[in-house]
Amino acid sequence: MAKIVIDGGHRLEGHVRIGGAKNAVLPILAASLLASSGTSMIDEVPSLLDVEHMIHTISALGAEIQREGNTLRINAAPVNRVDPPYDLVRSMRASFVVAGPLLARFGEAIIAMPGGCNIGPRPVDLHIKGFEAMGVQTRMENGYVHFIAPKDGLKGARIYLDIASVGATQNIMMAATLAKGQTIIENAAKEPENVDLANYLNAMGARVRGAGTDTIRIDGVDALHGANHSVIPDRIEAGTFLIAGAVMGNGVYVENALSQHLTSIIAKLEEAGARFEDDVQGIRVWPVENGRLKALDVKTHYYPAYPTDMQAQIVAALTTGIGTSMITETVFENRFMHVAELQRMGAEIHIEGRTAVIEGIEKLSGADVTATDLRAGAALVIAGLMAEGTTTVSGLHHIDRGYDNLVGKFQALGAKIRRIED
Ligand code: EPZ
Repeated sequence: MAKIVIDGGHRLEGHVRIGGAKNAVLPILAASLLASSGTSMIDEVPSLLDVEHMIHTISALGAEIQREGNTLRINAAPVNRVDPPYDLVRSMRASFVVAGPLLARFGEAIIAMPGGCNIGPRPVDLHIKGFEAMGVQTRMENGYVHFIAPKDGLKGARIYLDIASVGATQNIMMAATLAKGQTIIENAAKEPENVDLANYLNAMGARVRGAGTDTIRIDGVDALHGANHSVIPDRIEAGTFLIAGAVMGNGVYVENALSQHLTSIIAKLEEAGARFEDDVQGIRVWPVENGRLKALDVKTHYYPAYPTDMQAQIVAALTTGIGTSMITETVFENRFMHVAELQRMGAEIHIEGRTAVIEGIEKLSGADVTATDLRAGAALVIAGLMAEGTTTVSGLHHIDRGYDNLVGKFQALGAKIRRIED
Protein backbone atom coordinates (compact mmCIF):
# COMPACT_ATOMS: atom_id res chain seq x y z
CA MET A 1 0.00 0.00 0.00
CA ALA A 2 1.47 3.38 -0.96
CA LYS A 3 2.58 5.67 1.85
CA ILE A 4 3.82 9.21 2.30
CA VAL A 5 6.87 9.48 4.59
CA ILE A 6 7.65 12.86 6.16
CA ASP A 7 10.64 13.94 8.25
CA GLY A 8 9.11 16.82 10.16
CA GLY A 9 10.47 20.13 11.34
CA HIS A 10 11.89 21.46 8.06
CA ARG A 11 10.86 24.96 7.03
CA LEU A 12 9.11 25.55 3.67
CA GLU A 13 10.50 28.09 1.21
CA GLY A 14 9.79 29.14 -2.35
CA HIS A 15 6.65 29.08 -4.42
CA VAL A 16 3.92 26.62 -5.38
CA ARG A 17 1.43 26.97 -8.25
CA ILE A 18 -2.22 26.09 -7.60
CA GLY A 19 -4.13 24.07 -10.22
CA GLY A 20 -7.73 24.22 -11.43
CA ALA A 21 -10.51 23.66 -8.88
CA LYS A 22 -11.63 20.03 -8.54
CA ASN A 23 -15.08 21.14 -7.36
CA ALA A 24 -15.52 23.34 -10.44
CA VAL A 25 -14.15 20.85 -12.98
CA LEU A 26 -16.51 18.07 -11.89
CA PRO A 27 -19.83 19.93 -12.48
CA ILE A 28 -18.34 21.58 -15.61
CA LEU A 29 -17.61 18.15 -17.10
CA ALA A 30 -21.19 17.13 -16.32
CA ALA A 31 -22.43 20.39 -17.93
CA SER A 32 -20.50 19.58 -21.12
CA LEU A 33 -23.16 16.90 -21.75
CA LEU A 34 -25.66 19.68 -22.46
CA ALA A 35 -23.96 20.64 -25.76
CA SER A 36 -25.78 19.07 -28.71
CA SER A 37 -23.28 20.66 -31.11
CA GLY A 38 -19.76 22.04 -31.12
CA THR A 39 -16.71 21.16 -29.04
CA SER A 40 -15.76 22.34 -25.55
CA MET A 41 -12.13 23.06 -24.65
CA ILE A 42 -11.76 23.05 -20.85
CA ASP A 43 -8.41 24.36 -19.61
CA GLU A 44 -6.63 24.14 -16.21
CA VAL A 45 -7.98 20.63 -15.59
CA PRO A 46 -5.95 19.01 -12.76
CA SER A 47 -4.85 15.35 -12.81
CA LEU A 48 -7.05 13.89 -10.08
CA LEU A 49 -8.75 10.54 -9.55
CA ASP A 50 -12.12 12.29 -9.27
CA VAL A 51 -11.58 14.04 -12.61
CA GLU A 52 -10.63 10.73 -14.30
CA HIS A 53 -13.76 9.27 -12.72
CA MET A 54 -16.01 11.95 -14.22
CA ILE A 55 -14.26 11.61 -17.61
CA HIS A 56 -15.07 7.88 -17.59
CA THR A 57 -18.66 8.62 -16.60
CA ILE A 58 -19.39 11.03 -19.44
CA SER A 59 -17.42 8.94 -21.95
CA ALA A 60 -19.58 5.94 -21.01
CA LEU A 61 -22.59 8.03 -22.09
CA GLY A 62 -21.05 8.60 -25.51
CA ALA A 63 -19.07 11.83 -25.16
CA GLU A 64 -15.74 11.96 -27.01
CA ILE A 65 -12.95 13.33 -24.78
CA GLN A 66 -9.26 13.88 -25.44
CA ARG A 67 -6.84 15.18 -22.83
CA GLU A 68 -4.09 17.49 -24.16
CA GLY A 69 -1.95 18.32 -21.10
CA ASN A 70 -4.20 20.35 -18.76
CA THR A 71 -6.84 20.81 -21.46
CA LEU A 72 -9.78 18.54 -22.23
CA ARG A 73 -11.39 18.58 -25.69
CA ILE A 74 -15.00 17.36 -25.35
CA ASN A 75 -17.55 16.62 -28.07
CA ALA A 76 -20.91 15.72 -26.46
CA ALA A 77 -22.94 15.62 -29.69
CA PRO A 78 -22.64 11.78 -29.89
CA VAL A 79 -24.00 11.30 -26.33
CA ASN A 80 -26.81 8.74 -26.64
CA ARG A 81 -27.28 7.19 -23.19
CA VAL A 82 -28.90 8.36 -19.94
CA ASP A 83 -27.65 5.62 -17.58
CA PRO A 84 -24.06 6.21 -16.40
CA PRO A 85 -22.38 3.04 -15.07
CA TYR A 86 -23.76 2.13 -11.63
CA ASP A 87 -20.39 1.64 -9.95
CA LEU A 88 -18.96 4.89 -11.28
CA VAL A 89 -21.84 6.92 -9.81
CA ARG A 90 -22.06 4.97 -6.56
CA SER A 91 -18.36 5.41 -5.84
CA MET A 92 -18.24 9.16 -6.42
CA ARG A 93 -21.11 11.30 -5.16
CA ALA A 94 -20.23 14.19 -7.49
CA SER A 95 -21.28 12.03 -10.48
CA PHE A 96 -24.89 12.56 -9.38
CA VAL A 97 -24.83 15.96 -11.04
CA VAL A 98 -24.95 14.35 -14.48
CA ALA A 99 -28.68 13.90 -13.79
CA GLY A 100 -29.57 17.54 -14.50
CA PRO A 101 -27.85 17.72 -17.91
CA LEU A 102 -29.31 14.35 -19.00
CA LEU A 103 -32.82 15.38 -17.96
CA ALA A 104 -32.46 18.71 -19.74
CA ARG A 105 -31.19 17.29 -23.01
CA PHE A 106 -32.85 13.84 -23.17
CA GLY A 107 -35.79 14.06 -20.73
CA GLU A 108 -34.57 11.07 -18.72
CA ALA A 109 -31.78 9.96 -16.36
CA ILE A 110 -31.14 6.63 -14.65
CA ILE A 111 -28.66 7.30 -11.87
CA ALA A 112 -27.32 5.12 -9.06
CA MET A 113 -28.10 6.47 -5.62
CA PRO A 114 -24.77 7.98 -4.56
CA GLY A 115 -23.09 6.12 -1.73
CA GLY A 116 -22.85 8.01 1.54
CA CYS A 117 -19.27 8.45 2.40
CA ASN A 118 -17.33 8.64 5.59
CA ILE A 119 -18.18 12.29 6.25
CA GLY A 120 -21.91 11.68 6.60
CA PRO A 121 -25.00 10.16 4.89
CA ARG A 122 -25.20 12.97 2.28
CA PRO A 123 -28.76 12.61 0.93
CA VAL A 124 -29.94 13.98 -2.45
CA ASP A 125 -33.49 14.94 -1.40
CA LEU A 126 -32.97 18.57 -2.47
CA HIS A 127 -31.82 17.53 -5.95
CA ILE A 128 -34.99 15.44 -6.27
CA LYS A 129 -37.19 18.24 -4.88
CA GLY A 130 -35.86 20.61 -7.55
CA PHE A 131 -36.37 18.16 -10.42
CA GLU A 132 -39.91 17.31 -9.28
CA ALA A 133 -40.76 21.01 -9.14
CA MET A 134 -39.80 21.08 -12.84
CA GLY A 135 -42.27 18.28 -13.60
CA VAL A 136 -39.97 15.26 -13.28
CA GLN A 137 -41.37 11.89 -12.14
CA THR A 138 -39.01 10.01 -9.79
CA ARG A 139 -38.90 6.24 -9.31
CA MET A 140 -36.47 4.41 -7.01
CA GLU A 141 -35.65 0.92 -8.28
CA ASN A 142 -32.82 -1.51 -7.39
CA GLY A 143 -30.47 1.18 -6.15
CA TYR A 144 -31.17 3.52 -9.03
CA VAL A 145 -33.15 6.73 -9.19
CA HIS A 146 -35.10 6.84 -12.45
CA PHE A 147 -35.97 10.41 -13.43
CA ILE A 148 -38.49 11.02 -16.24
CA ALA A 149 -39.23 14.53 -17.53
CA PRO A 150 -42.68 15.52 -18.90
CA LYS A 151 -43.19 14.61 -22.56
CA ASP A 152 -43.02 18.29 -23.56
CA GLY A 153 -39.88 18.89 -21.50
CA LEU A 154 -38.91 20.39 -18.15
CA LYS A 155 -40.83 23.42 -16.92
CA GLY A 156 -39.27 26.40 -15.21
CA ALA A 157 -40.12 26.54 -11.48
CA ARG A 158 -39.43 28.52 -8.34
CA ILE A 159 -37.37 26.31 -6.01
CA TYR A 160 -36.36 27.04 -2.43
CA LEU A 161 -33.42 25.00 -1.12
CA ASP A 162 -33.80 24.23 2.61
CA ILE A 163 -30.01 23.87 2.69
CA ALA A 164 -27.71 25.90 0.41
CA SER A 165 -26.55 22.65 -1.16
CA VAL A 166 -23.67 23.00 -3.64
CA GLY A 167 -24.62 19.89 -5.62
CA ALA A 168 -28.36 20.54 -5.64
CA THR A 169 -27.78 24.12 -6.87
CA GLN A 170 -25.58 22.78 -9.67
CA ASN A 171 -27.96 20.00 -10.71
CA ILE A 172 -31.04 22.24 -10.79
CA MET A 173 -29.19 25.09 -12.53
CA MET A 174 -28.04 22.72 -15.31
CA ALA A 175 -31.49 21.14 -15.72
CA ALA A 176 -33.07 24.62 -15.94
CA THR A 177 -30.88 25.76 -18.86
CA LEU A 178 -33.10 23.90 -21.37
CA ALA A 179 -36.40 24.05 -19.46
CA LYS A 180 -39.41 25.98 -20.74
CA GLY A 181 -39.62 29.35 -19.02
CA GLN A 182 -37.75 30.72 -16.03
CA THR A 183 -36.41 28.81 -13.02
CA ILE A 184 -35.58 30.62 -9.80
CA ILE A 185 -33.37 28.92 -7.20
CA GLU A 186 -33.68 30.52 -3.78
CA ASN A 187 -31.18 29.98 -0.96
CA ALA A 188 -28.76 28.81 -3.65
CA ALA A 189 -25.18 27.84 -2.80
CA LYS A 190 -22.82 30.78 -3.44
CA GLU A 191 -19.55 28.87 -3.82
CA PRO A 192 -17.14 30.23 -6.47
CA GLU A 193 -17.26 26.84 -8.17
CA ASN A 194 -20.97 27.39 -8.87
CA VAL A 195 -20.17 30.81 -10.36
CA ASP A 196 -17.54 29.16 -12.56
CA LEU A 197 -20.10 26.58 -13.68
CA ALA A 198 -22.61 29.34 -14.50
CA ASN A 199 -19.97 31.17 -16.55
CA TYR A 200 -19.32 28.04 -18.60
CA LEU A 201 -23.07 27.45 -19.07
CA ASN A 202 -23.53 31.02 -20.30
CA ALA A 203 -20.59 30.58 -22.71
CA MET A 204 -22.52 27.55 -24.04
CA GLY A 205 -25.52 29.80 -24.76
CA ALA A 206 -27.42 29.43 -21.48
CA ARG A 207 -29.02 32.37 -19.64
CA VAL A 208 -28.01 32.10 -15.99
CA ARG A 209 -28.07 35.21 -13.77
CA GLY A 210 -27.26 35.71 -10.10
CA ALA A 211 -24.80 32.85 -9.59
CA GLY A 212 -22.82 33.63 -6.44
CA THR A 213 -25.86 35.18 -4.76
CA ASP A 214 -28.75 33.63 -2.79
CA THR A 215 -31.04 33.78 -5.83
CA ILE A 216 -30.21 32.40 -9.26
CA ARG A 217 -32.48 32.96 -12.27
CA ILE A 218 -32.23 30.72 -15.33
CA ASP A 219 -34.20 31.42 -18.52
CA GLY A 220 -34.47 28.24 -20.56
CA VAL A 221 -33.19 28.19 -24.15
CA ASP A 222 -33.64 25.64 -26.96
CA ALA A 223 -30.14 24.20 -27.20
CA LEU A 224 -26.57 24.66 -25.96
CA HIS A 225 -23.29 24.35 -27.86
CA GLY A 226 -19.72 23.59 -26.86
CA ALA A 227 -17.62 26.44 -25.42
CA ASN A 228 -14.10 27.21 -24.25
CA HIS A 229 -13.54 27.67 -20.52
CA SER A 230 -10.59 27.99 -18.16
CA VAL A 231 -11.35 26.59 -14.69
CA ILE A 232 -10.84 28.82 -11.62
CA PRO A 233 -7.96 27.98 -9.26
CA ASP A 234 -8.64 25.51 -6.46
CA ARG A 235 -9.27 27.61 -3.33
CA ILE A 236 -9.05 24.53 -1.09
CA GLU A 237 -5.65 23.49 -2.48
CA ALA A 238 -4.54 27.15 -2.10
CA GLY A 239 -5.87 27.28 1.48
CA THR A 240 -4.06 24.05 2.30
CA PHE A 241 -0.71 25.55 1.25
CA LEU A 242 -1.43 28.86 3.01
CA ILE A 243 -2.02 27.00 6.28
CA ALA A 244 1.16 24.96 5.81
CA GLY A 245 3.06 28.19 5.07
CA ALA A 246 1.57 29.89 8.14
CA VAL A 247 2.99 27.27 10.50
CA MET A 248 6.07 25.95 8.67
CA GLY A 249 6.95 28.50 5.98
CA ASN A 250 9.51 31.29 5.56
CA GLY A 251 7.42 33.42 3.21
CA VAL A 252 5.90 30.75 0.93
CA TYR A 253 4.36 32.20 -2.27
CA VAL A 254 1.14 30.54 -3.45
CA GLU A 255 0.88 31.35 -7.15
CA ASN A 256 -2.47 31.45 -8.96
CA ALA A 257 -4.40 31.75 -5.64
CA LEU A 258 -7.37 34.15 -5.74
CA SER A 259 -7.59 36.01 -2.41
CA GLN A 260 -11.23 36.95 -3.09
CA HIS A 261 -12.09 33.24 -2.77
CA LEU A 262 -10.04 32.85 0.41
CA THR A 263 -11.23 35.75 2.59
CA SER A 264 -12.46 33.61 5.51
CA ILE A 265 -9.28 31.49 5.57
CA ILE A 266 -6.98 34.52 5.37
CA ALA A 267 -9.02 36.33 8.05
CA LYS A 268 -8.71 33.41 10.50
CA LEU A 269 -4.99 32.91 9.84
CA GLU A 270 -4.38 36.67 10.34
CA GLU A 271 -6.29 36.42 13.64
CA ALA A 272 -3.87 33.61 14.52
CA GLY A 273 -0.82 35.78 13.76
CA ALA A 274 0.11 35.02 10.14
CA ARG A 275 0.62 37.87 7.66
CA PHE A 276 -0.25 37.98 3.94
CA GLU A 277 0.89 39.91 0.87
CA ASP A 278 -1.47 39.71 -2.07
CA ASP A 279 -0.51 40.54 -5.66
CA VAL A 280 -2.22 39.79 -8.98
CA GLN A 281 -0.30 36.56 -9.48
CA GLY A 282 -0.83 35.07 -6.02
CA ILE A 283 -0.44 35.37 -2.25
CA ARG A 284 2.64 35.29 0.01
CA VAL A 285 2.14 34.05 3.57
CA TRP A 286 4.45 35.07 6.44
CA PRO A 287 4.49 32.56 9.31
CA VAL A 288 3.62 32.97 12.97
CA GLU A 289 6.33 33.06 15.65
CA ASN A 290 7.98 29.62 16.05
CA GLY A 291 5.18 28.03 14.06
CA ARG A 292 2.57 28.27 16.83
CA LEU A 293 -0.74 29.89 15.82
CA LYS A 294 -2.66 31.91 18.39
CA ALA A 295 -5.68 29.85 19.49
CA LEU A 296 -8.81 30.36 17.34
CA ASP A 297 -12.54 29.74 17.37
CA VAL A 298 -13.65 28.59 13.91
CA LYS A 299 -17.11 27.64 12.71
CA THR A 300 -17.50 26.06 9.26
CA HIS A 301 -20.51 27.03 7.16
CA TYR A 302 -21.58 27.63 3.59
CA TYR A 303 -19.62 30.05 1.42
CA PRO A 304 -18.44 32.71 2.10
CA ALA A 305 -18.02 31.40 5.66
CA TYR A 306 -15.03 29.27 6.64
CA PRO A 307 -15.24 26.17 4.41
CA THR A 308 -15.82 22.68 5.76
CA ASP A 309 -13.20 21.47 3.27
CA MET A 310 -10.60 23.48 5.22
CA GLN A 311 -11.65 22.27 8.68
CA ALA A 312 -9.24 19.34 9.04
CA GLN A 313 -6.32 21.47 7.92
CA ILE A 314 -6.89 24.22 10.51
CA VAL A 315 -7.43 21.60 13.23
CA ALA A 316 -4.00 20.13 12.41
CA ALA A 317 -2.35 23.56 12.47
CA LEU A 318 -3.97 24.46 15.81
CA THR A 319 -2.73 21.31 17.59
CA THR A 320 0.36 23.36 18.54
CA GLY A 321 -1.60 26.61 18.94
CA ILE A 322 -1.07 28.85 21.93
CA GLY A 323 -4.16 28.27 24.08
CA THR A 324 -7.46 26.46 23.58
CA SER A 325 -9.16 26.44 20.14
CA MET A 326 -12.77 25.52 19.38
CA ILE A 327 -13.55 24.23 15.87
CA THR A 328 -17.24 23.68 15.08
CA GLU A 329 -18.27 21.67 12.00
CA THR A 330 -21.81 22.71 11.03
CA VAL A 331 -22.00 21.29 7.47
CA PHE A 332 -21.29 17.56 7.85
CA GLU A 333 -22.29 15.21 10.66
CA ASN A 334 -19.11 13.23 10.89
CA ARG A 335 -16.06 15.11 9.71
CA PHE A 336 -13.71 14.78 12.71
CA MET A 337 -12.16 11.39 11.93
CA HIS A 338 -8.75 13.04 11.50
CA VAL A 339 -8.86 13.88 15.24
CA ALA A 340 -8.11 10.29 16.27
CA GLU A 341 -5.14 10.24 13.89
CA LEU A 342 -3.82 13.56 15.23
CA GLN A 343 -4.14 12.19 18.78
CA ARG A 344 -1.66 9.45 17.77
CA MET A 345 0.77 12.32 17.14
CA GLY A 346 0.22 13.69 20.63
CA ALA A 347 -2.51 16.20 19.87
CA GLU A 348 -4.77 17.04 22.83
CA ILE A 349 -8.22 17.26 21.26
CA HIS A 350 -11.63 16.15 22.47
CA ILE A 351 -14.99 16.33 20.71
CA GLU A 352 -18.00 17.98 22.32
CA GLY A 353 -20.97 17.46 19.98
CA ARG A 354 -20.06 19.21 16.71
CA THR A 355 -17.04 20.98 18.24
CA ALA A 356 -13.42 19.86 18.46
CA VAL A 357 -11.76 21.41 21.54
CA ILE A 358 -7.99 21.64 21.01
CA GLU A 359 -5.53 22.29 23.87
CA GLY A 360 -2.41 23.55 22.08
CA ILE A 361 0.78 21.60 22.87
CA GLU A 362 4.44 22.49 22.25
CA LYS A 363 5.12 20.03 19.45
CA LEU A 364 3.53 17.05 17.69
CA SER A 365 5.50 13.82 17.42
CA GLY A 366 5.71 11.74 14.26
CA ALA A 367 3.56 8.58 13.98
CA ASP A 368 1.95 6.19 11.49
CA VAL A 369 -1.43 7.67 10.56
CA THR A 370 -4.19 7.00 8.01
CA ALA A 371 -6.16 9.44 5.87
CA THR A 372 -9.95 9.06 6.29
CA ASP A 373 -11.06 11.53 3.63
CA LEU A 374 -9.20 13.69 1.15
CA ARG A 375 -9.02 16.81 3.31
CA ALA A 376 -8.08 14.77 6.40
CA GLY A 377 -5.22 13.37 4.33
CA ALA A 378 -3.92 16.85 3.57
CA ALA A 379 -4.27 17.75 7.26
CA LEU A 380 -2.15 14.76 8.28
CA VAL A 381 0.55 15.81 5.80
CA ILE A 382 0.60 19.28 7.42
CA ALA A 383 0.80 17.64 10.85
CA GLY A 384 3.71 15.49 9.63
CA LEU A 385 5.56 18.59 8.41
CA MET A 386 5.05 20.16 11.85
CA ALA A 387 5.94 17.08 13.94
CA GLU A 388 9.24 16.09 15.47
CA GLY A 389 10.45 12.84 13.91
CA THR A 390 9.00 10.75 11.10
CA THR A 391 5.34 10.45 10.10
CA THR A 392 3.93 8.00 7.57
CA VAL A 393 0.53 8.69 6.02
CA SER A 394 -1.45 5.86 4.35
CA GLY A 395 -4.89 5.89 2.70
CA LEU A 396 -3.42 7.86 -0.21
CA HIS A 397 -6.30 7.10 -2.57
CA HIS A 398 -8.21 9.74 -0.59
CA ILE A 399 -5.46 12.30 -1.19
CA ASP A 400 -5.12 11.39 -4.88
CA ARG A 401 -8.83 12.09 -5.36
CA GLY A 402 -8.40 15.78 -4.66
CA TYR A 403 -4.74 16.83 -4.75
CA ASP A 404 -2.58 16.87 -7.88
CA ASN A 405 1.00 15.93 -6.95
CA LEU A 406 0.77 17.08 -3.30
CA VAL A 407 4.09 15.40 -2.41
CA GLY A 408 5.93 16.93 -5.39
CA LYS A 409 4.62 20.40 -4.53
CA PHE A 410 5.75 20.12 -0.91
CA GLN A 411 9.13 18.71 -2.02
CA ALA A 412 9.59 21.78 -4.22
CA LEU A 413 9.02 23.89 -1.10
CA GLY A 414 11.86 22.08 0.70
CA ALA A 415 9.82 19.60 2.75
CA LYS A 416 11.51 16.28 3.54
CA ILE A 417 8.64 14.26 2.13
CA ARG A 418 8.48 11.31 -0.21
CA ARG A 419 5.94 8.86 -1.55
CA ILE A 420 6.66 5.13 -1.36
CA GLU A 421 4.61 2.93 -3.67
CA ASP A 422 3.87 -0.55 -2.30
C1 EPZ B 1 -19.75 19.74 -2.29
O1 EPZ B 1 -20.34 18.52 -1.92
C2 EPZ B 1 -18.26 19.47 -2.38
N1 EPZ B 1 -18.01 18.43 -3.37
C3 EPZ B 1 -17.71 19.02 -1.03
O2 EPZ B 1 -16.30 18.90 -1.16
C4 EPZ B 1 -18.01 20.11 -0.01
O3 EPZ B 1 -17.57 19.67 1.26
C5 EPZ B 1 -19.52 20.38 0.02
O4 EPZ B 1 -19.97 20.75 -1.30
C6 EPZ B 1 -19.88 21.50 0.98
O5 EPZ B 1 -19.19 22.66 0.62
C7 EPZ B 1 -18.00 18.76 -4.68
O6 EPZ B 1 -18.23 19.90 -5.05
C8 EPZ B 1 -17.69 17.65 -5.64
P1 EPZ B 1 -23.74 19.82 -0.32
P2 EPZ B 1 -21.96 18.36 -1.99
O7 EPZ B 1 -24.82 19.27 -1.18
O8 EPZ B 1 -22.50 19.10 -3.13
C9 EPZ B 1 -26.81 18.17 2.88
C10 EPZ B 1 -14.20 17.90 -1.01
O9 EPZ B 1 -13.53 17.74 -0.01
N2 EPZ B 1 -27.68 17.85 1.73
O10 EPZ B 1 -23.49 21.29 -0.28
O11 EPZ B 1 -22.26 16.92 -1.85
C11 EPZ B 1 -25.60 17.26 2.94
O12 EPZ B 1 -25.90 16.07 3.63
C12 EPZ B 1 -15.69 17.61 -0.98
O13 EPZ B 1 -13.78 18.34 -2.12
C13 EPZ B 1 -28.98 17.42 1.96
O14 EPZ B 1 -29.41 17.28 3.11
O15 EPZ B 1 -22.36 19.10 -0.63
C14 EPZ B 1 -24.59 18.09 3.69
O16 EPZ B 1 -24.82 17.93 5.09
C15 EPZ B 1 -16.10 16.91 0.31
N3 EPZ B 1 -29.78 17.13 0.90
C16 EPZ B 1 -24.95 19.53 3.30
O17 EPZ B 1 -26.26 19.48 2.71
C17 EPZ B 1 -29.35 17.27 -0.41
O18 EPZ B 1 -30.14 17.00 -1.34
C18 EPZ B 1 -24.00 20.12 2.27
O19 EPZ B 1 -24.00 19.26 1.17
C19 EPZ B 1 -28.02 17.73 -0.61
C20 EPZ B 1 -27.20 18.01 0.45
